[in-house]
Amino acid sequence: MPDYTEEIKRRRTFAIISHPDAGKTTLTEKLLLYGGAINLAGSVKGKATARHAVSDWMEIEKERGISVTSSVLQFEYGGYCINILDTPGHQDFSEDTYRTLMAADSAVMVIDASKGVEAQTRKLFKVCVMRKIPIFTFINKMDRDANDTFDLLDEIEKELGIATCPVNWPIGSGKGFKGVYDRNKKCVITYSDTEKGTREGHSREVPIQEEGLLRETIGDGAADKLLEEVELLDGASAEFDLDEVRRGNLTPVFFGSALTNFGVEIFLKHFLEMTTTPLARKADIGLIDPVEKDFSAFVFKIQANMNKAHRDRVAFMRICSGRYDASMEVRHVQGGKVMRLSQPQQIMADERKILSEAYAGDIIGVFDPGIFSIGDTLCAPREKFCYEGIPTFAPEHFARVRQVDTMKRKQFVKGIQQIAQEGAIQIFQEFNTGLEEIIVGVVGVLQFDVLKYRLENEYNVEIRLENLPYEHIRWIENKDEVNLDKLTGTSDMKKVKDMKGNPLLLFINSWSVGMTLERNKGLVLSEFSRN
Ligand code: G4P
Repeated sequence: MPDYTEEIKRRRTFAIISHPDAGKTTLTEKLLLYGGAINLAGSVKGKATARHAVSDWMEIEKERGISVTSSVLQFEYGGYCINILDTPGHQDFSEDTYRTLMAADSAVMVIDASKGVEAQTRKLFKVCVMRKIPIFTFINKMDRDANDTFDLLDEIEKELGIATCPVNWPIGSGKGFKGVYDRNKKCVITYSDTEKGTREGHSREVPIQEEGLLRETIGDGAADKLLEEVELLDGASAEFDLDEVRRGNLTPVFFGSALTNFGVEIFLKHFLEMTTTPLARKADIGLIDPVEKDFSAFVFKIQANMNKAHRDRVAFMRICSGRYDASMEVRHVQGGKVMRLSQPQQIMADERKILSEAYAGDIIGVFDPGIFSIGDTLCAPREKFCYEGIPTFAPEHFARVRQVDTMKRKQFVKGIQQIAQEGAIQIFQEFNTGLEEIIVGVVGVLQFDVLKYRLENEYNVEIRLENLPYEHIRWIENKDEVNLDKLTGTSDMKKVKDMKGNPLLLFINSWSVGMTLERNKGLVLSEFSRN
């Protein structure tokens, strides 16, 4: 075993997923309080400052006051080294949000207790399920009136198709919120509303068997309800099974209030015990063990124009095995070169910390002179293997793009192809046409603005975007078995191909997707492409 094995084993790398406003930022801030964060990324900021993002990586960020990029937070807690990957939400939701999940070993799903499962959570959840990573649920805002607890759990199970296992159980909500019941310890932890931003207040622990004390502490009404619910719960809920959690089939559920910092440390402690050390990752030579192999990593995100003055690109990579130090040589497998990575750094908003070493589980950003692509593998010079690629995720917004000045054809094609190659947008063509008719697909509408801005500023090409009504895209998985000319679709269906020539279908209505499948027996459609 290498001498840095312990460094790898103490790493926990996860992403927090939620619908905007469920409390992801607030929860992250509170988690950092416990760790005394060593690095604070631009992602964690109050709502007010969020509107004036500190980052100046792109002018567009300043103009809109939002952060286009995602970043990583690292902090220490209880002997663990924790990496939180920020998944951009709000208007800056993009394919990068999905890609970030490819670099995480587990996900924490934050749900607003009065809203239940919402659209963006559903989307991000699907990606976690595809990867079969453990998913932990934090039901937030218990200090406000919440939906019925059983209904919330039922909704998660039915809507997301994952079994739930409450680790603790809320006692009331809103003004009547009394705390949570710890099912393992069989005691009630009373709610204490702390000053915003400070550590947890002085909660009391009351064993449920001490009924007199329990009634005195939370009142007769709450005690009766709790005793009844606990009995129901013990009979009805799934048994806690760590293997099922690790396989992504069962989600441990916690209740709390990030704003008042109640239930956050309880969650953190359990989460760290239940989640995994850096996971082995699939490559073309089999699973790569994080400890057994020397350094290896894959690129999951490329950020262009991090600094306008330098016109640079930064490739974000997740270290999958071994130890990295800045002086070592690595092989860029797809580029066929052995090289030193320049300026390895941890990217924190406008602050970049140059790294001297990092371990499996960590994320580093390196200067990219335009050689890396999303999904590329880096490994030790004597090795030569490739990690499984990052899928292309279904865009949800489409536009036809035309250049204003037709004389600038060459720059236009070059620019749009390069931006697509970086993974900032996806481009599609109609069947049987060249690049004169380009359809751009994006996951979040901000990507359209980024495209327009970058073509103007970097390639000096002005474009016009004409929105198209398509909302659903499907790759044809069994393209070799399907005769595209004979496909019987719906009237709103459009056939296109992606940059690699893969055939796809665009639909305006989700109903049409099902209809097309019904009309063409044997057709297999997919929401993402691994080709
Ligand atoms: P997000 O990152 O998921 O988008 O959510 P964020 O943490 O920014 O929280 C959204 C809003 O919900 C914020 O209020 C935040 O203070 C509030 N919030 C988060 N957790 C809790 C909680 O446990 N209880 C209650 N009652 N509120 C919570 P805001 O008014 O939009 O912003 P701010 O002005 O308070 O910063």
